Amino acid sequence: MKSTLYRTVEYSKTLITELMIPSYANFGGKIHGGTILSLMDKVAYACSAKHAGGYCVTASMNVVDFLAPVEVGDLVHLHASVNHVGNSSVTIGIRVEAESILTGERRHTNSSYFTMVRVDSETKKAIAVPGLILETREDMRRFLEAMKRKELVQEYKENFKNTTHALDLNSIEELLKGQNCKLGQG
Ligand SMILES: CC(C)(COP(=O)(O)OP(=O)(O)OC[C@H]1O[C@@H](n2cnc3c(N)ncnc32)[C@H](O)[C@@H]1OP(=O)(O)O)[C@@H](O)C(=O)NCCC(=O)NCCS
Repeated sequence: MKSTLYRTVEYSKTLITELMIPSYANFGGKIHGGTILSLMDKVAYACSAKHAGGYCVTASMNVVDFLAPVEVGDLVHLHASVNHVGNSSVTIGIRVEAESILTGERRHTNSSYFTMVRVDSETKKAIAVPGLILETREDMRRFLEAMKRKELVQEYKENFKNTTHALDLNSIEELLKGQNCKLGQG
């Protein structure tokens, strides 16, 4: 059932800032990608739960490209806002910036979109979320872009399924020609 409640994008905008401590680093001395992903999931949860007014789960996240490394000692700022809502899903746009405390320089390190679904805390079934009030041109653009992205993801999933089902495993040697792999006996 559709919710009759509507909330603005502003209502649930969330910012998390975290200091990158040495235990978050990998062997190369940079921050683990997984640490950033975990923080992104956290901010997506906070933002979606605020909009939805209750418990949400992560249904999917779209591609995350790491554009620049994050250093130990940086402050990482994660900006999250609701870009789109469906019946029970909330799409959160996240922008991650790393700030050098020493120089004040800020770098955009990655952005992504998380789809969170409001679920009933007992039955774990998806339930309706409030609609979104689009106050600014930016809110409208993001909502429309999220609609388009959903359509494209759906098309991609269907195309990928059809393409992989149509792969002819009898011509496996031909298909793998030039690839960086070796065929075993199996
Ligand atoms: C997310 C979840 C509740 C969806 O359940 P479901 O039975 O598929 O529910 P529905 O088919 O009714 O879909 C509910 C909504 O989720 C969306 N959804 C479901 N799977 C999705 C996916 N993979 N990507 C994006 N959206 C998805 C649907 O589009 C629908 O959105 P809408 O209501 O706004 O139209 C269920 O798959 C789940 O519990 N997954 C595990 C989540 C979890 O544990 N996350 C943490 C991982 S450690």
